[in-house]
Amino acid sequence: MLEGKKILLGITGSIAAYKSILLTRLLVKEGAEVKIVMTPAAKDFVTPLTLSTLSKNEVLVDIYKDSSWANHVMLGRWADCMLIAPVSCNTLAKMANGLCDNLLMSVYLSATCPVFLAPAMDEDMWKHKTTQQNVKTLKLQGNILLPVENGELASGLIGEGRMAEPEAIAGYLINYFTERITLSGKKALVTAGPTYEQIDPVRFIGNYSSGKMGVALAKELKKRGADVTLVLGPTQTPLSLEGLSVVHIHNAEEMLNACVAVFDNMDITIMAAAVADYKPADVADQKIKKNDGVLELSLHKTTDILKCLGNKKKDKQVLVGFALETNNERENAIGKLKQKNADIIVLNSLRDESAGFGKDTNKVTVFNSSGGEKSYETKSKEDVAKDIVDYIIEYQNA
Ligand code: CTP
Repeated sequence: MLEGKKILLGITGSIAAYKSILLTRLLVKEGAEVKIVMTPAAKDFVTPLTLSTLSKNEVLVDIYKDSSWANHVMLGRWADCMLIAPVSCNTLAKMANGLCDNLLMSVYLSATCPVFLAPAMDEDMWKHKTTQQNVKTLKLQGNILLPVENGELASGLIGEGRMAEPEAIAGYLINYFTERITLSGKKALVTAGPTYEQIDPVRFIGNYSSGKMGVALAKELKKRGADVTLVLGPTQTPLSLEGLSVVHIHNAEEMLNACVAVFDNMDITIMAAAVADYKPADVADQKIKKNDGVLELSLHKTTDILKCLGNKKKDKQVLVGFALETNNERENAIGKLKQKNADIIVLNSLRDESAGFGKDTNKVTVFNSSGGEKSYETKSKEDVAKDIVDYIIEYQNA
């Protein structure tokens, strides 16, 4: 099930390191190519000889030895995913703070692939506020934390903190890679960010949208194998757009044109942009000068892009809109779903502290045109994107 996948396995100094021997065997048996990087402390628990024999690759430990120093960037790029199992409390803290004092940390900090973490430690260390804060930070940064198990710990105590069993870890990777390909051959369109409606050469009507949610969605669709077009408004937030095909636009009309140009070929369309509802009736050629009186701006409505696409939609196309509300959230969201002929509406309320423009987290409720409704917990925008894409796939397959 992992045929041809390149997995970079990191092992740190924890008693659970003995399980990484079985884990290596399982991953190789599933067809993966496994390269291993150990911390110096991990060598006290398992030997590089055992692991290099099982992985059929040299095991790297020492940052300054041979070619390891130069290799650390290439290793991170070589891998389809990095898995650190076990992650000790110490390594977890170093990762959350970007410390780089051994080869494993240098590889982690230069890895561009998804990173899975399987922590292992005693219950009190696991539950310590600092550790939980570190876990939160690492999740928000997009790392995938595998759940710890409850059971007998190295201290002899019973509790939470055991590393997940090798079979379970291999299972997570298999799920991840199978999920990835579910959208291969599909085309997806995502809008993100604000639009700026020009008033004069130096002013515009805009909003605070950062584009983070839309970009997270575009990346998630791409991870699952879709061919993604991102239509992005002029956000002021620096975003990593690596690997995405991006159409940059400024105003609502340009966004409309960019969407209409490709919509007919799309299987999935997600309108996450905060589009201006009104634009100045006329754009002044010169900077408008202040005067003593009141300045009146005459505004015209922009075209509702979601509604326009909803009217063009064909049977097999899935169209998803967002609804950002401050009151009567549920009614408004369901109203938008119907009026715009969308299949799914994702509601976020500005009354939720964890939701809204510029935040790294979001809390959403999703409604579909068959009356379905599902609420999610507060999560990082990357995890919300996963939930939304899962929901869309379920809806498509229903
Ligand atoms: N939308 C759009 N074109 C517009 C305005 C909104 O495509 N001119 C889309 C947004 O991208 C979002 C959905 O419509 O997917 C709902 O946007 P929202 O701003 O919540 O609602 P509006 O329809 O603009 O209504 P209101 O501002 O009155 O709440």
